[in-house]
Amino acid sequence: MISVFGSKFTEEEAEAVKQVLLSQWAGMGKKVTEFELELAQKRHLPNMLLVDSGSNALYLAITLLNLPPNSEIILPSFTWVACAQAVLLAGHKPVFCDVDIQTQNVTAETILPHITPQTKAIMVVHYAGKPVDMNPILALGLPIIEDAAHAIHSNYYGKACGTLGKIGVFSFDSIKNLAMGEGGGITTQNEAYLARAKKLRYCGIEKSGFQQSQAQQSQNKWWEYHISEAFIKMLPTDLEASIALIQLQKMEKYQAIRKNIWDTYQKAFENTEWIIRPQNPEPYERHSYFTYFIRTPFRDELANYLLDKKIYTTLRYHPLHLNALYQSTKVLPNSEKLNEQGLNLPLHPNLSETDVTYIIDCITKFKK
Ligand SMILES: Cc1ncc(COP(=O)(O)O)c(C=O)c1O
Repeated sequence: MISVFGSKFTEEEAEAVKQVLLSQWAGMGKKVTEFELELAQKRHLPNMLLVDSGSNALYLAITLLNLPPNSEIILPSFTWVACAQAVLLAGHKPVFCDVDIQTQNVTAETILPHITPQTKAIMVVHYAGKPVDMNPILALGLPIIEDAAHAIHSNYYGKACGTLGKIGVFSFDSIKNLAMGEGGGITTQNEAYLARAKKLRYCGIEKSGFQQSQAQQSQNKWWEYHISEAFIKMLPTDLEASIALIQLQKMEKYQAIRKNIWDTYQKAFENTEWIIRPQNPEPYERHSYFTYFIRTPFRDELANYLLDKKIYTTLRYHPLHLNALYQSTKVLPNSEKLNEQGLNLPLHPNLSETDVTYIIDCITKFKK
């Protein structure tokens, strides 16, 4: 079966993991710090902090904003479930908005009708790594969390996606462009957010007991510690950071493979009138090519036909406002249309040229 998402690991990642294991320390340590610094430097990310998943990074980011309880946070319905769950878990109200049908991204126009006096923040998602048009959204004047889970290589007017709002969130799970197994992170210009995030990711513990007891005039025993607020543990590990450090070295190479597959699909489906292709980046954008998303009125038939041909496809995402948990009565026409017509085709660095040719061949022979 050809998988729809994926990553590519080699002996190099295996060796890096082995070295961490043989160092007898697999938890959070030097490799985590090394990865935070190297990624920050490579992508110009201020204060990059690694945690154990992108989903938890979203929850951390919302917590850091310190909004009044029950604040409304506007976010796309067409996104990963953790985006809305992070809002709920932080004690706020997710308010779903629609996306642009062509880009699958929120716009100032799709956000505006949902703004009320209770709106305290906006969460945007750079779908597939195509940058959201941020300037008109920034002009709305609300704090913005950027979910850049798909957008580790994306730029908007030369600036890295994730650095345009108040806090940027990344995912490094096993299918992401920069994969480490499970992992996520935040980036922020705000030093106070960073200091708090460092405590929060370790159950809210201020400093280790040992650091405390070493402080001058401290009366503490080294096994005592201060906790300023309750939070869950979301520590990353050196095991996973060691994988990510190798993946980081290969990022440009893997991005070139992704772009090449994308361009090949774009060209192959240029004259296929029943397929609406995804939008290429604008000259002022750089895309991450996380996934290749098409629209077609024959989506279900095509997905089943490709499955028979051992090609796995999927729909990312099932719109959240249609999920029972959120009890929404809203109608969001573009998200609903994407739910009926959208399909993600295979795109990842483990696809061979033969795979891509086979996928294109099957699709062009598909009889509607
Ligand atoms: C848009 C988006 N945000 C957040 C996440 C959460 O990331 P993670 O899987 O690392 O928890 C994902 C994961 O697929 C995602 O697609």
